[in-house]
Amino acid sequence: MLVENNVPLQQYNTFGIVAKAHTLVRAHSVDDVRALIASPDLAGQPVFVLGGGSNIVITGDVKPVVLKMEIKGLRLAGETDRAWIVEAGAGEVWHEAVAWTIAQGYPGLENMALIPGTVGAAPVQNIGAYGVELQDRFDSLDAVDLATGKTFTLNAAQCAFSYRDSIFKHAPSAAGEYSDLPRGMGLAGRAVITHVRFRLPKQWKPDLGYADLERKMAESGITEPTPRQIFDWVCEIRRAKLPDPVVIGNAGSFFKNPTVTEYQCTDIIAREPKIVHYPMPDGSIKLAAGWLIDACGWKGKSIGKAGVYEKQALVLVNRGNGEDSVTGGEVMTLAKAIQTSVYERFGIRLEPEPVVV
Ligand code: EPU
Repeated sequence: MLVENNVPLQQYNTFGIVAKAHTLVRAHSVDDVRALIASPDLAGQPVFVLGGGSNIVITGDVKPVVLKMEIKGLRLAGETDRAWIVEAGAGEVWHEAVAWTIAQGYPGLENMALIPGTVGAAPVQNIGAYGVELQDRFDSLDAVDLATGKTFTLNAAQCAFSYRDSIFKHAPSAAGEYSDLPRGMGLAGRAVITHVRFRLPKQWKPDLGYADLERKMAESGITEPTPRQIFDWVCEIRRAKLPDPVVIGNAGSFFKNPTVTEYQCTDIIAREPKIVHYPMPDGSIKLAAGWLIDACGWKGKSIGKAGVYEKQALVLVNRGNGEDSVTGGEVMTLAKAIQTSVYERFGIRLEPEPVVV
């Protein structure tokens, strides 16, 4: 376990916000996590788990102990008649893990290529793209209880996945064993994910029910794409419309796509016939937050050094750089202004996706 003090965090968050961690601990193994918990100086202190820093807005120096997960490893952990079970260390870069599975011939993660962040962060917000979510390919994960050092394993049901959400995003409650935690009894700040296992189908079928991918297929003339082909298409689509955090700081989609009832949607469509909406299996309707923000005229606008990306209004970007970077306060001011205008025009409350630290 390596403990550092006053550590600059700019290179550890994809927004590129300037801030410091009072204390930062790097964990390369489960034993490193246990050493933190057992350390006389650090035991019992609040902990903030940092993965790739791709889904956070830092609004000041971080006082909780920052636990930077650097556990590596990619392996075939098992197989059944129907699936390969692949295990990845929480500190693996997500995209590299996806690329490794494709190279090894274990398909299933290709639609989620190029999502920034680490493997350990993927279940926290149940990442997803182009019609596939982590929960669709998830087998189980290992985590360490930050109070006791005990290791435990959760299956998909126990993770309580939903759209960009899991048990790891919710504040803990005093009661409850992990196995039966009802919704709302969260593990945020209480446990750290160390390994994730994916269940990758041997009878693979492409997931193409997404407009951008259908367009790629039509353009290429390929009717039976391979996992590698879809992986490449997804990378091309993302590179064309999402900013590369290495070049322009950002945290991906800044708001969740809101869900409304069919009744509310009929009302909104009557007023806004062009609104982009998707019917969900449960009868509710998901609206494209990017379209709502765009319709309010925000695309390309800025407040201070916080901007709305020119090609995708759902992505807020850092228009500064180096020491002169955007602050978390500026990002949140812009986010609030966007929320207000979307609410005033559509009566819809947008919910931020990143964690505000
Ligand atoms: N749109 C606009 N104007 C905009 C942005 C979008 O009109 O400025 C319209 C698009 O034309 C499209 C619709 O809104 O008809 C949806 O846009 P897009 O296909 O880009 O997807 P999204 O719903 O904005 C979601 C995820 C992304 C994921 C893509 C592809 C959320 C919050 N975001 O974006 O995930 O890559 O679908 O599956 O669910 C992320 O979570 O960080 C992320 C990037």
